[in-house]
Amino acid sequence: MIELKPEAMIGKGLHRECYIHPENPNRCIKVVVLRGEEETRREQAYYKFLQKRQISWEMLPQFYGVEPTSMGPGAVFDLVRDTDGNVGKTFEHYFESSELTTQNLQGLLESLRALKKYLFHYNIITMSIKPKNIIYQRQDDKTGTAVIIDNIGNSDAIPIGSYSRYFGKIKMVRKWDKFVALLKKDYPDNHPLQAQIVAKLSD
Ligand SMILES: Nc1ncnc2c1ncn2[C@@H]1O[C@H](COP(=O)(O)OP(=O)(O)O)[C@@H](O)[C@H]1O
Ligand SMILES: [Mg+2]
Repeated sequence: MIELKPEAMIGKGLHRECYIHPENPNRCIKVVVLRGEEETRREQAYYKFLQKRQISWEMLPQFYGVEPTSMGPGAVFDLVRDTDGNVGKTFEHYFESSELTTQNLQGLLESLRALKKYLFHYNIITMSIKPKNIIYQRQDDKTGTAVIIDNIGNSDAIPIGSYSRYFGKIKMVRKWDKFVALLKKDYPDNHPLQAQIVAKLSD
C-alpha cells in the first residue's frame, strides 16, 4: 500500500486531492475525498476508450491505473512539470494575475490554440473546460504546453460524439465557446487576457 503524506499534496479540487507519487516524481496520485466516485468512473472509462485509439498524449496526462493508498484507491497519472522541474501551475493561477499573464502572454495564447487543435484533431470529448483544470506546462518566457488534467469524457446517455467526429466536433465547438465565455466573465479586469488572448481564441 502506498502511504500518502500531507506534504506530498500538490493540489485539491472539488472532489479529489492530488499527491506526488512517493516512488516516481513524474507521476501523481489522485484520491477521492468528497463525492467523486461517478466522475472517477467516467474518467477511467473514457481513458480506457482513448487508450484503444492511437492518440498522442502530449496534452493529456497518461493514466496508469489504480493503486491502493493510505487514503483509499489512488488513480495514477503523469505529473505535469515545467521545464525547470517545478510542478506546473494551472491557467487559473496565471489568469488571476495580469502581470503573470503579460509575462507569459505568447505561450499562454499559443498553447491554448494548440490545445483546441489537439482536442478537435483526436476528437477528445470533455465536460466543461475550465482554467483550473488545465495546467500551463511552462517551458520559458515565450513557450509552453496546455495540458488538460480533469473533466474529460462524455456523460451523454448515448455518447454519439465519442464515436463520430462529426458529432464530436459539434459538441466540442460548444464546449470551447463556453470556455471562452467563461474567461470573459471570470477575469474582466485582466486586460492582457481579454485583449490579447480571449479575442484570439474563437477562430
Ligand atoms: N497531472 C497533474 N499534474 C500536476 N498537477 C495536477 C495534476 N492533476 C491535478 N493537479 C493539481 O491538483 C488539482 C486537483 O486535481 P483535479 O484532478 O482537478 O481534482 P478534482 O477532480 O477534485 O477537481 C488541480 O487543480 C491541479 O492543481
Ligand atoms: Mg479539477
